[in-house]
Amino acid sequence: MRKASIYDCVVLPLNKIHNRAGNITVVEQIKNLPFDVKRIYYLYDIPGGVGRGGHAHKELYQLIVAASGAFDVMLDDGENKKVVTLNRPDFGLMVVPGIWRELLEFSSGAICLVLASTVYDENDYIREYSEFISLTR
Ligand code: TYD
Repeated sequence: MRKASIYDCVVLPLNKIHNRAGNITVVEQIKNLPFDVKRIYYLYDIPGGVGRGGHAHKELYQLIVAASGAFDVMLDDGENKKVVTLNRPDFGLMVVPGIWRELLEFSSGAICLVLASTVYDENDYIREYSEFISLTR
């Protein structure tokens, strides 16, 4: 696993094209995202009080967007932790490889949109916190 810092996980302002019919936000390669997108998925119908995540990735970069509603992302690099609240569809949190993340405090109806740099690969996951901590040492 790559050694990473939570301070490399930044909230990126995305664009917003507004007119009287509403808004559109475009996430387009090179313009505002520093990795190629190979996969998109979204979390929805998340029951109240439930958390998601609870793992790290070895190589995967992600951009996490609150497409609707709000939730918190807890980031942990084995040394420091921080919590980022996402509640606007025109901002995205970039999470670099080597970061333990937990998604918490989903509002009712929240949609968590994730743009990911690789296709799904279970071997890229670190799902045991003790293993994550030992890999950061
Ligand atoms: P997981 O990444 O553990 O979810 P979360 O971090 O949101 O809690 O994935 C949940 C399940 O979905 C797990 O069985 C793997 C599967 N899955 C895929 O098959 N493909 C994917 O792209 C993702 C993200 C998950």
